[in-house]
Amino acid sequence: MRLHDIAVVGASGLVGRKILQVLNERKFEVGKVVPIASDASVGKEVNIQGKQYRIQKLTPEAFRNIEFAFFSAGGAVSSEWAPIAANERCLVIDNSSAFRMKDDVPLVVTEVNRADIFKHKGIIANPNCSTIQLVVVLKPLDEEFKIKRVVVSTYQSVSGAGHKGISALENEITKIDSLASRSPFPYQIAYNAIPQVDVFFDDGYTKEELKMINETRKIIGKKDLNITATCVRIPSLVGHGESVNIEFEKKVTVDDVKKLLIGSKGVKVVDNPVNNIYPMPIDSVEKDDVFVGRIRTDNSVKNGINLWIVADNVRKGAATNAVQIAEEFLKGK
Ligand SMILES: NC(=O)c1ccc[n+]([C@@H]2O[C@H](COP(=O)([O-])OP(=O)(O)OC[C@H]3O[C@@H](n4cnc5c(N)ncnc54)[C@H](OP(=O)(O)O)[C@@H]3O)[C@@H](O)[C@H]2O)c1
Repeated sequence: MRLHDIAVVGASGLVGRKILQVLNERKFEVGKVVPIASDASVGKEVNIQGKQYRIQKLTPEAFRNIEFAFFSAGGAVSSEWAPIAANERCLVIDNSSAFRMKDDVPLVVTEVNRADIFKHKGIIANPNCSTIQLVVVLKPLDEEFKIKRVVVSTYQSVSGAGHKGISALENEITKIDSLASRSPFPYQIAYNAIPQVDVFFDDGYTKEELKMINETRKIIGKKDLNITATCVRIPSLVGHGESVNIEFEKKVTVDDVKKLLIGSKGVKVVDNPVNNIYPMPIDSVEKDDVFVGRIRTDNSVKNGINLWIVADNVRKGAATNAVQIAEEFLKGK
């Protein structure tokens, strides 16, 4: 048994802590752990797999002799420090958007494009949380029925904005801070829905919407895939929902889709509308599967299907996917 020394940048954050939890749950053979966070956390003690560690600051030396460096401290930290870690011969698995669209950086969801892992040049990017749960479902459908067009609308939980997102919702609900000044959201999120996730570009789309569009095309390997997105923040804690309308080239039935998705890796079909059974964010919490339900024909177009996708954005949308990349890398080509 060979132990793997790891660094986690952002070890005190939602995703960093979840990476450490998932590594433990999946019995990843961890040796030394270097937890790293901002100056605010340096020196604090964390317990990882029964051992006490002190959070360190970012230095090139922190990455020396480290095999895997998981980054989850935002784009600015990754842009500056991921190349430094890669230079120290770490394999960087980056949760930020800093490198996702770079041609020489693989963007990987193991159920979809595992082989791309082995094209890495030191950095592998983990896709956006909303993209991951979408492509796990789109890929098998595209292989079988050829996708013509996708329209996706998201219902994204506050944890997608990190621990500050959770605090903002909890504070607003308990009226500790009715318009939380430290909120990452532009408006009150409690009892509300905000049709803005991240900043706007000149064309009227948000950065989150463009991430979904561009990352989906890259992961599925179809540069010209017709896909459009609207991203909405809702006051759920964990688990993103997505309403997805898909037009196919080939004829397709609801049964075809169900059968295919039941046999697809990483997907669980939860679809029994007669008994009010469908996936909900609250049921996806702490699960690694991508859940699909409300599968039905869209009679307004030829070969159209509507469906509803839910996954835990902090696990499959970030931590679990990052750990799966490391696991698959170790298994080899
Ligand atoms: N939340 C999700 O669902 C999700 C899903 C996919 C991808 N991501 C991505 O994952 C990353 C982390 O997200 P999160 O939700 O975990 O955010 P978070 O809860 O706010 O955690 C951020 C982490 O980054 C650390 N950090 C901030 N500035 C730093 C600096 N200058 N140097 C070193 N560490 C620094 C923080 O340390 P302190 O605690 O010391 O401030 C904390 O550990 C982001 O890039 C995000 O886009 C998040």
